[in-house]
Amino acid sequence: MFSSKSSRESGSFPEDKKILVAYFSHSGNTQVIAHQINKNMGGDIFEIQSVQHYPVDYNSVVEVARQELRSGYMPALRSKIDNFNQYDIIFIGYPCWWSTFPAPVKTFFSENDSSGKIIIPFCTHEGSGLGRSVSDLKNLCPKAKVLDGLAIRGSYVKMAQNDIMMWLRRLGMTR
Ligand SMILES: Cc1cc2nc3c(=O)[nH]c(=O)nc-3n(C[C@H](O)[C@H](O)[C@H](O)COP(=O)(O)O)c2cc1C
Repeated sequence: MFSSKSSRESGSFPEDKKILVAYFSHSGNTQVIAHQINKNMGGDIFEIQSVQHYPVDYNSVVEVARQELRSGYMPALRSKIDNFNQYDIIFIGYPCWWSTFPAPVKTFFSENDSSGKIIIPFCTHEGSGLGRSVSDLKNLCPKAKVLDGLAIRGSYVKMAQNDIMMWLRRLGMTR
């Protein structure tokens, strides 16, 4: 249905826009959503990874994240995206950490100029939803247009296809 020519022509899918799905995921939940969005939207997908791995132990990563977010630290990233300028629409995905996005997302937008781009946030969480991440994103990317975000509970990521489609439709992104 989403690939037929007639439905493409009748939908509001931004055919002429170049799309990137960029995401950070520590334990895999956000990665599932990122791939589902990429499957629906096409374009490119990029995993944001820090050079230094976060601890696997929950209490340890919670503490590391707390310190990073409190201090404004921006961890070095393992790889850079090629030609970020080519993209018009950036889906940005992350787990909600301390009610906002993890520090590597901050590094990502400090290395890549988001001026004039459309940014569409999505997160996975365990109760906080998007928290204050959207307003933090707006502060981080003041010259971008930040659209309504999607928040999915970590334990529901494999059942989120419908929620993703409804959200994309609301944003006018469906074919
Ligand atoms: C360091 C850390 C901080 C977290 N802080 C929050 C939070 O403030 N609110 C919340 O709802 N969930 C919080 N969580 C839960 C994660 O957002 C949730 O498990 C998410 O689905 C993990 O995504 P991932 O598998 O892509 O890393 C936190 C998890 C970690 C590891």
